[in-house]
Amino acid sequence: MRIKLNEDQVLLRDMVRRFADEVVRPRAKEIDESGVFPRQFFDQAAELGLAGVCVAEEYGGAGMDTISYCLVIEEISRACASSGVILSVNNSLVCDPLAKYGSEEQKREFLTPLASGRMLGCFALTEPGAGSDPAAVRTAAVRDGGDYVLNGNKVFITNGTDADLALVFATVDPEKKHRGMAAFLVPADTPGYSHGGHEYKLGVNASGTTELAFEDLRIPARYRLGEEGEGFKVAMSTLDGGRIGIAAQAVGIAQAAFEEALAYSQEREQFGRPISSFQAIQHYLADMSTELDAGRLLTWKAAWAKDNRKRYTLEASQAKLFTSEMSQRVTNKALQIHGGYGYIKEYNVERYFRDARITEIYEGTSEIQKLVIAGWELANS
Ligand code: CAA
Repeated sequence: MRIKLNEDQVLLRDMVRRFADEVVRPRAKEIDESGVFPRQFFDQAAELGLAGVCVAEEYGGAGMDTISYCLVIEEISRACASSGVILSVNNSLVCDPLAKYGSEEQKREFLTPLASGRMLGCFALTEPGAGSDPAAVRTAAVRDGGDYVLNGNKVFITNGTDADLALVFATVDPEKKHRGMAAFLVPADTPGYSHGGHEYKLGVNASGTTELAFEDLRIPARYRLGEEGEGFKVAMSTLDGGRIGIAAQAVGIAQAAFEEALAYSQEREQFGRPISSFQAIQHYLADMSTELDAGRLLTWKAAWAKDNRKRYTLEASQAKLFTSEMSQRVTNKALQIHGGYGYIKEYNVERYFRDARITEIYEGTSEIQKLVIAGWELANS
């Protein structure tokens, strides 16, 4: 494993950082407050090849590796965490499983528009009674001749208010639990498909989180992704990749908070000198810097494993667990360094503090990551 980024990765990171600083950051505060889904951001990001970073060029993607993808998500999230997760869901949770499990016909019909930004995707797994335990999904898919008919409800669906395509997980045989699940590609303009209003949240407020409902929704059987009974595996293996994206998002949010705390500590004077000259503040900065680097390296290690190994479940969960909790600690310290100013909306740190919190929850809570890590270590001891 090489720790040094290659020339292409450095060029990509610098290009995305410029885009994030010039285009994404100036709108971050406004979209956080309004909750309005930034579709224009997605279109602009897609023009730069960021809607399908790892998708092969023949399907409209940028054909890059997973470390490059992490750089993209980190840089965008450093400017705006809502924009980071919007991109992460389209890349990791929709393009990735289509590239892995899709037929040639499905790739032409859906992957190419998703990777080139003509379509926006969402990942519809979670239900009111199936969060940490997705094998309990109740959305039903019933075979009817050459079609499937879907009925059910999904909640907390990122991108849901604006998605053109949903990757929907349903049960074709509830008796078989997780082995009775299947995944379906469902265009949002299919009769029987509807979504709710935007959920106002603590953080990442502009990511279009909503409910989806399917009422006698009929899709052709060729829209099933993978085999009947394979749906749980599609979901879990997709989330392995998704968790790397969320780890990169957590690093990006923490990086933004660290940079602002570092600058503020040198400007802010108390007792006649910059607060950065106090050892208490220096200890905070030292811990933040060290933890950030550790999180970034774990994320890149997981990205490397994804590109080089069949299973990278362990590395992905370790990266997600550590970075999400690290992001919490770093944004909390950044807020503390800002004192009273950190608690008011004029400064960005209160947003970073709120945004970081979700990284410990979505795509598997910290408790679920620990279950995965311990399970993996015990099984391989
Ligand atoms: N890759 C491939 N297959 C996997 C797998 C993986 N990572 N993990 C498990 N499997 C397979 C197992 O091998 C097993 O296969 P067999 O049936 O052949 O034996 C099967 O799946 C069942 O495995 P488990 O017994 O381990 O499954 P479980 O029901 O105990 O659940 C779990 C395991 C880790 C707790 C899992 O349910 C989980 O990850 N839960 C969290 C769900 C989650 O992350 N939700 C996020 C929602 S999406 C989201 O948040 C998006 C967003 O908004 C941004």
